[in-house]
Amino acid sequence: MSFREDGAAALEWAARYLERVGELPVLAQVAPGDIRARLPAAPPEHAEPFADILRDLDEVLLPGVTHWQHPRFFAYFATTASEPGILAELLVATLNNVGFLWRTSPALTELELLTMDWLAQLLGLPEGWHGHIEDTASTSTLATCIVAKHVTGRNVVVCSEHAHSSVDKAARMLRMELRKAPVDGDFRMRVDHVDVSDAAIVVATVGTTSTASIDPVPEAAEAARDAGAWLHVDAAYAGAAWVCPELRESIAGVERADSLVVNAHKWLLTPMDCSCLWTSRSDDFRDAFSLVPEYLRTPEEVTSLSEFGPALGRRFRALKLWAVLRCFGRDGLQAAIREHVRLAALFESWVRVEPGWEVVAPRHFSLVCFRREGSDAENEALLERVNATGEIFLSHTKLGGRYVLRLAIGNARTTEVDVRRAWDVLRAAR
Ligand SMILES: Cc1ncc(COP(=O)(O)O)c(C=O)c1O
Repeated sequence: MSFREDGAAALEWAARYLERVGELPVLAQVAPGDIRARLPAAPPEHAEPFADILRDLDEVLLPGVTHWQHPRFFAYFATTASEPGILAELLVATLNNVGFLWRTSPALTELELLTMDWLAQLLGLPEGWHGHIEDTASTSTLATCIVAKHVTGRNVVVCSEHAHSSVDKAARMLRMELRKAPVDGDFRMRVDHVDVSDAAIVVATVGTTSTASIDPVPEAAEAARDAGAWLHVDAAYAGAAWVCPELRESIAGVERADSLVVNAHKWLLTPMDCSCLWTSRSDDFRDAFSLVPEYLRTPEEVTSLSEFGPALGRRFRALKLWAVLRCFGRDGLQAAIREHVRLAALFESWVRVEPGWEVVAPRHFSLVCFRREGSDAENEALLERVNATGEIFLSHTKLGGRYVLRLAIGNARTTEVDVRRAWDVLRAAR
């Protein structure tokens, strides 16, 4: 078979998958070890046809796939790999550029800088920030902590008790002290209840993982400035919402941030992985990360993006983000986000009026936190039952020590019918 024929078959597989993904059980219905047990323990001695890969994908792997592209995937933060993003990934692999220097791919470097500028404009960020792409928000936040430690010479990370665990992990890897502020009744960081005076970095979150709550960024900015600390804003999920002017209330104070992370692979229709990291202090990033050995020296006076983060080699991720921004446009992105917020508000309204159910946190963006009356064990069992149906997939968190269900809308294929189905399945499972 030729590349063209195999490629046509793979594309047909992808198109067919996206058409039928809603009919598959959203959560993989296998036990640990099941998939590996069905695969040969040793690698092949001789070349196999690509068609065998597609066959095994269907027969062996697919039962072990949890379908993130499913319209009833409501767990964690639901995502979408849109068609332009998928096709661009193929082109990224085809070009296989390794953009560690400008000259190793001028287009990669310049498109990444341009695309990050475009996205900054779409989100309403201040002009002139330097943006580059990392793989994940965890890496973006780790890189930022490295810079903050480097420029302040301090060793303390301050965040709220609802900050994402990637902040804890960064602090642990860097052997920094982690100081967590308590939250108020709406799960927002209480900046005045934590000592920031010796902080290297204050991390404020817009759209926390458990409830999508919004830390008071202006207060955090004030405290960070007074203390001479770096301010990092983690808007990994919710930053995407700023593409809609009516959802920009939560951007207040972000203009005073030293850095900001928004994951395009969460709520901006871009396939995993594409974490967008901006900074208003690009010289500090460069100072912390730039290390150019002799064999990488070139005569051009240009920026190499490897000087702004831990990795040397970089993928042509900008191509997929560029494809998404062009093929959807501002209004296409806005339409997707508005619809998700509308559906979440609708779901919330159903829970509110249903006896025996309760909304347990203010709804922000497209995330609803709720529970059924009864014990934690009963709610946990309810979640396991609904997920086992294969009809829907939700995840949980704990708020104030209580077990809580989370329904997050973020897949472009999700319709009102899907959200209604989720509610029917939940009520039937009680
Ligand atoms: C607020 C927040 N920050 C950071 C992350 C980590 O994202 P990533 O998987 O890209 O590291 C998440 C993941 O859900 C998140 O919700």
